[in-house]
Amino acid sequence: MYYKILVNIQIKDKFVLKYLLYLFMFSDKAKLLVFLTLLTAFSVYSTLLYINLPATATSKQCNTDALRGKQLWQAHNCNACHQVYGLGGYLGPDLTNVYSKKGTAYITAFLKNGTAIMPNFHLSPEEIKSLLSYLQHIDASGTADPKHFTTNNYGAIH
Ligand code: HEC
Repeated sequence: MYYKILVNIQIKDKFVLKYLLYLFMFSDKAKLLVFLTLLTAFSVYSTLLYINLPATATSKQCNTDALRGKQLWQAHNCNACHQVYGLGGYLGPDLTNVYSKKGTAYITAFLKNGTAIMPNFHLSPEEIKSLLSYLQHIDASGTADPKHFTTNNYGAIH
């Protein structure tokens, strides 16, 4: 008698299990459920990424001198040979932190005379001053030393 009940339950359970499996794997309801679960997981994950951004944007405005420097930077296409924040050409060195590392006299010497590889742009003292302000602004807004960067598991660079 007990044995019979046991068999009965087992058979019933199997049936229920199969039915549930069928429901979950193939019904439209199950598909909708899977879709909604994935959508929710995606939304939660994306939201978490956005609220835990590692780099907080510094929105420091350029002063007018630095802005003029930026325009000179673009007009002379310094970026073709130099990088700022690690982006740009690779003939010359990254200039993101050149201002604090090398100082104004050193930079002025390069800008006044050029070198065997870097052209002399025949810049006026005012233009050199503006470029120095721009480099100072860049220096204050971030660091770029690719040798010491670490990449986290979602691709952001610190
Ligand atoms: C044709 C490529 C080229 C262009 C364009 C160029 N540079 Fe250079 N620059 C170099 C190279 C190469 C060096 C490294 C010095 C050398 O090897 O002669 C250098 C060095 C420098 C340095 C010294 C960096 C250090 O850490 O020693 C500064 C500052 C600089 N450039 C600023 C500028 C600015 C500002 C501009 C735009 C007005 C500019 N450069 C445009 C190629 C260029």
